[in-house]
Amino acid sequence: MIPTTIDLGKGQPSLGLLPTAALRTAGERFLAQHPASWLQYGDDRGEAPFLDALAGFLTRRYAVPVHASQLMTTAGNSQALDLCCALFTRPGDTILVEEPTYFLALDIFRDHGLRVVGVPIDDDGMQTDALHEAVARYRPALLYTIPSFQNPTGVTLSAARREQLLAICAAHDVLVIADEVYQLLDFGAPPPPSLATYASGARVLSLGSFSKICAPGLRLGWVHGAPELLERIMRSGLVQSGGGLNPFTSGVMHTLITLGLADGVLDELKTVFAERSRALCGALREQLPFARFVAPRGGYFVWVTQPGISANVLLPFAREAGVAFHAGPRFVHGDRFDDALRLSFAHYDSEQLREGVQRLARATLHYPDNPRA
Ligand SMILES: Cc1ncc(COP(=O)(O)O)c(C=O)c1O
Repeated sequence: MIPTTIDLGKGQPSLGLLPTAALRTAGERFLAQHPASWLQYGDDRGEAPFLDALAGFLTRRYAVPVHASQLMTTAGNSQALDLCCALFTRPGDTILVEEPTYFLALDIFRDHGLRVVGVPIDDDGMQTDALHEAVARYRPALLYTIPSFQNPTGVTLSAARREQLLAICAAHDVLVIADEVYQLLDFGAPPPPSLATYASGARVLSLGSFSKICAPGLRLGWVHGAPELLERIMRSGLVQSGGGLNPFTSGVMHTLITLGLADGVLDELKTVFAERSRALCGALREQLPFARFVAPRGGYFVWVTQPGISANVLLPFAREAGVAFHAGPRFVHGDRFDDALRLSFAHYDSEQLREGVQRLARATLHYPDNPRA
């Protein structure tokens, strides 16, 4: 079925991809064990059996050892990010981010009164020369980075730049918040290792989430980092008052992982997203031959630039044609990237994606003074 509006802005899996059958199996098995202890206020760090299972899952999927003592349960990366801002910054502090970056993270930084400074990126991720200058000039409290299959551009920080970024931040005592929500979502060639697994990663908090690799409604994630940094989060008012985060859902996820079902869910998503990404990129090449983009190697997004065409001006024409997207300026603090749009291939099947691009091409024809017309 082809929807009336194809909203390529939606960065979430389609309903049919959500693992209801696997979660039902895991949920029933979990509940049959009368899990009273998982219904109490949770341990500050998270429930030990879940963290052990998660450490095993990450060790297998990262192919790098991860120990349970380096992990803490969260209610997803948005919550973890909010908590990190609350604990490690004060209003008026500077946070460095990639330019462009995940737009809703910018909203969290605004909630905490932070001053956002963008660092340019290229095909290898954040430019470390520019980072060096920005760190020296602005003396930031935090660096926020999405190292793998970045939202919105899909780019991945190279191995060499990961080392440089960590060295710069260590030398200037800047805490790195690595939002690694897409780290496990490669289409065949894994990205360089998670920033928290580097020997020089002592001042890194890596945020991971089941939102993109299982289901966003679980509201379950983790922080991976040095035990001393996790201690600080555990001492937060939020955790002290409410107990460890999301114990019940982590019980269901514990069962999903130990039954071996979480691997199957992730593998299925990777296969489907790779196929959808190919369909979207193929349609872009055919229908919008002047658009510039780099075919993603993982994640959820393609970042498309159409020189001379303002995404914000195009959007109403696109809506009229039955398609939507997120316009580039949403992803910066300021008004740059007006000729860019972020398209997600996670929410629609290949046929719907091709139709969405056809509608986008039609809308582009109606663009006033289209430089290509
Ligand atoms: C980079 C990034 N971080 C965080 C999130 C939200 O994560 P969660 O659902 O775990 O809060 C998203 C969702 O799109 C994202 O793209």
